[in-house]
Amino acid sequence: MVRLSRRSFLAAGGALALTGLVRPGRAATPRELRLTPRAGTAALAGPGWPQTEILGYDGRAPGPEIRVRQGDRLRIAVRNELVEETTVHWHGIRLPIAMDGVPGLSQNPIPPGGTFLYDFEVPDAGTYWYHPHVRGFEQIDRGLAGALVVEEPDPPAVDRDVVWLLDDWRLGRDAQITDDFGVLMDISHGGRIGNTVTINGAAPDGFALRAGERIRLRLINAANGRLFSLLFEGHAPQVIAWDGQPTPPHVPAGERIVLGPAMRADLILDATGTPGQRYRVVDDFYRARAYRLTDLAYADAPPRRGALPPVPALPRNTQPEPDLADPIRHTITLTGGMMGRMSEATLGGKRLDARSLMMRGKAWALNGVAAEGTMEKPLFILPRRRTCVLTMINDTAWPHPMHLHGLPMKPLTRQGRPPPRAEWRDTVLLMPGERVEMGIVADNPGDWLFHCHIAEHMEGGMMGVIRVD
Ligand code: C2O
Ligand code: CU
Repeated sequence: MVRLSRRSFLAAGGALALTGLVRPGRAATPRELRLTPRAGTAALAGPGWPQTEILGYDGRAPGPEIRVRQGDRLRIAVRNELVEETTVHWHGIRLPIAMDGVPGLSQNPIPPGGTFLYDFEVPDAGTYWYHPHVRGFEQIDRGLAGALVVEEPDPPAVDRDVVWLLDDWRLGRDAQITDDFGVLMDISHGGRIGNTVTINGAAPDGFALRAGERIRLRLINAANGRLFSLLFEGHAPQVIAWDGQPTPPHVPAGERIVLGPAMRADLILDATGTPGQRYRVVDDFYRARAYRLTDLAYADAPPRRGALPPVPALPRNTQPEPDLADPIRHTITLTGGMMGRMSEATLGGKRLDARSLMMRGKAWALNGVAAEGTMEKPLFILPRRRTCVLTMINDTAWPHPMHLHGLPMKPLTRQGRPPPRAEWRDTVLLMPGERVEMGIVADNPGDWLFHCHIAEHMEGGMMGVIRVD
């Protein structure tokens, strides 16, 4: 049977609809699975340390890697075996609002012992992830996170396709997660930053590879607060996708892959090193506290091949391009935090000064409003199918990875200048003082959450709703 790619399917869509044909190929097969958030243990601290008690999907941190094909339909029954409510949000997937996993906006939370069936198609290839949207500052931090990989119909040729889900933990001397969640210190500063970094839930002790290999490395930052800036010493991996969405292959500025919480990068890592050697992978986002994340550990074997072909570009996904002829313009200004200028904000309809806000656990605002929960009045309403040019201004002393559910954002300018190449983001990093303009096509109706993905900032008020009507 001929398997049409999603793109050729869309191109042929009208004709198929007229003849009443169903979509051919694997996409017609439902992909059914179960996911059970529950308690478990993981060897986070490494050899010689006790196991750490975690919360994880199927009791594992990270949860199972879900890998499907572009256009597949997923049916995931989530049975909550936690002692509290939860939901699952499929971060970055363009899906109907009812499957978006936000309590209050798209579904009721799943009670302990309850089950919810998530049922949606994955229209775009790329690297995504899933996590709860209830008390994320604790549930995600305790380990509820997993990779969701959507493969292209014809993925680029590589020797291995590998996920590195990066996470950051605050462990005590007993190797257990400390229970100081949602404290004002973390809310008003850079979020809950830990003391132990893991790759795929384990203390990294070297990534084995062979000279001459080509690896597709999918990086996911699943940390609450930690930002990463990864330097692969002696190598020049090229980014082929940001947040799952293809971008022309390139070595990023400073040869560093910068990922705020929730952000992803797909890399092509060519093993150009010497057999038997080790090369450091360094994270130096916090310059004074740079550390070796792991090593690229080359086997002694001779190179697998001589030269590698040029890095291939990924095919474009299916989201519509912004129409910049007559866009609707909106601005969202981020304020608050320590060393910031926010003197007051609205909370629950009341104007409060910064100190009173702090006493209520709030330290941040979007356009002067500190969110109490997900059911705030929308920041603005977009008429369906229109393009919005959204200006975001970071008027704080902290970086913020701002995430919009449901609608991908195309960066148009940063500090007034167009980006060096086309890219799309579902989470855009704003450094202190930065201003960006994003193009958003309002093609998916619903109340879409917009928030900082530093979980403590979101809890501390940096959240709002953008409605598409
Ligand atoms: Cu990764 Cu509101 O989500
Ligand atoms: Cu933030």
